[in-house]
Amino acid sequence: METIIPFDTIQNWIEEEKKLGSLSADSVVLATASASGEVHSRVVAIREITHLGILFFTQKKSRKAKDLSENSSASMTLWLPLRQREVVLDGLVEALTENENQGYWETLSRERQLRFLTYQSGKPIDSLNDLQMRYALLEKNYDNKKIPMNESYCGYRLVPNRIYFYTLGQETFSEVTEYVFLAEKWKKQRVSP
Ligand SMILES: Cc1cc2nc3c(=O)[nH]c(=O)nc-3n(C[C@H](O)[C@H](O)[C@H](O)COP(=O)(O)O)c2cc1C
Repeated sequence: METIIPFDTIQNWIEEEKKLGSLSADSVVLATASASGEVHSRVVAIREITHLGILFFTQKKSRKAKDLSENSSASMTLWLPLRQREVVLDGLVEALTENENQGYWETLSRERQLRFLTYQSGKPIDSLNDLQMRYALLEKNYDNKKIPMNESYCGYRLVPNRIYFYTLGQETFSEVTEYVFLAEKWKKQRVSP
């Protein structure tokens, strides 16, 4: 076993996939579970990768936010089809502070802020026209004004304790490397597919 930091590898794999033309290399499947163990997964966009973990944003009223408030364990799968690669991250998710949320909110374009204000996670609507009308109203209300952070806007950071890199072998063996966070260090080992 050797000690290294695997976050750079994730970033490199994403960049390599983008260079091949991928438009979805920043999207991951996030699986969460409720307190009673019901599992649910969905796609989220990776906002940032740092030495602390993988950051994503959502709405406080979403199912994922509810699951994470009950059970902070989660798993992310990054599927990079152009290179036939997969990264699986298992760990615990922590919510960002309101100050951190505010800081990220302010980096969004006005258009994205307005779009986020328009959303009301999971609320039934008749058509996209409902959203267009709500967007237009908000745009008018906040013309030339600072757009306040949607109180539902919230960020989470997946802090992994296990990361699994898989490259599918087309005409050769698949390659698998596993990183486990043990005693404050990342341990790397090659494992059999
Ligand atoms: C490419 C793509 C990116 C997405 N990114 C996000 C995201 O960053 N945050 C988010 O809350 N939902 C995102 N969604 C929508 C989610 O997949 C999901 O449908 C929604 O958040 C409701 O999830 P939940 O009810 O399971 O919490 C994205 C969907 C797609 C297709």
